Amino acid sequence: MTPPAFTAALNPRQKVRAAGLDPDHWYAAEYERALPPGTTRLTRFWGAPIALTRGRDDRLDAEGRPVRARYGLVWIFPGDPARAERVALPEVPELEGPDPWAYVPIDFTWRAHHSMVIDNLCDLTHAHLHRRFASFQPGRLLQCQAQDDRVLLRYEARVGPLVRRRVPPSPMTIGYEYPYHWAAFEWSGIRGRIKYWTFLLPMDERTTRVFFVMLYDTLRVAALPVPLPHRAVWWLLRAAQPTVRALLDQDGLALEAEQAGYEAHWTAPLVELNPAVSQLHRLTIRKWETHLERTAVTVEATA
Ligand SMILES: [Fe+2]
Repeated sequence: MTPPAFTAALNPRQKVRAAGLDPDHWYAAEYERALPPGTTRLTRFWGAPIALTRGRDDRLDAEGRPVRARYGLVWIFPGDPARAERVALPEVPELEGPDPWAYVPIDFTWRAHHSMVIDNLCDLTHAHLHRRFASFQPGRLLQCQAQDDRVLLRYEARVGPLVRRRVPPSPMTIGYEYPYHWAAFEWSGIRGRIKYWTFLLPMDERTTRVFFVMLYDTLRVAALPVPLPHRAVWWLLRAAQPTVRALLDQDGLALEAEQAGYEAHWTAPLVELNPAVSQLHRLTIRKWETHLERTAVTVEATA
């Protein structure tokens, strides 16, 4: 037996693992540099194939849908084209202005439902899965606030390369701004702000492409009289990319195992340690229900 479809789901866990993401938003679908003039790349949104094309005249197209380019990414609006003009592309203030933060992109395609990826990104209790990569410690959940299309989490956590040492915890804020995710914090024991956005492309019910937009502010190193500027931070972080990728590969491994586990044991009761996770699920479920109502997809039609 396979897990139930959304409309046949019996509980919130089954619902959230079957929910799609509302197509009436902008979704990062590809890197601009992966689409030089005169090329086409295929992608999918919730099972529907989409051909991304850049003509020889440099114009982007996605089979007649509106397409935008921003922050090095190609964005598609898979939903109602009439709504595209009224829905804003995500704004990343750290990349605007005369001195943008150091920006290092990284992406993965994981065989896992998008809601599992959001759970992973928002829930620090999975720190033990990283084993020898001690990049963060679980920390205390100080606040969980769900309002409108957003769940805001405040943690007190140790993050960064010094977590094995005696460094004080620092505040960390994580937002699920439907359908996007961001996290803002400061390295523990080093002065330097980090913010990263995660843009998910739900390719189908068990495949999600995950675009991380990692942003780093100037870095204060104790031995240096002035902070490292954004350009120097960028070079440093380019060099650290293999480590970041190896760390996130562990999340991918855990997520793919979780997906396989869910497909085998979807009737089992869910044991959830972090109270914030149910808030994330509620938002995903509510938005998908609203989408289904709007597009008049009834229980009978999808059963
Ligand atoms: Fe992780």
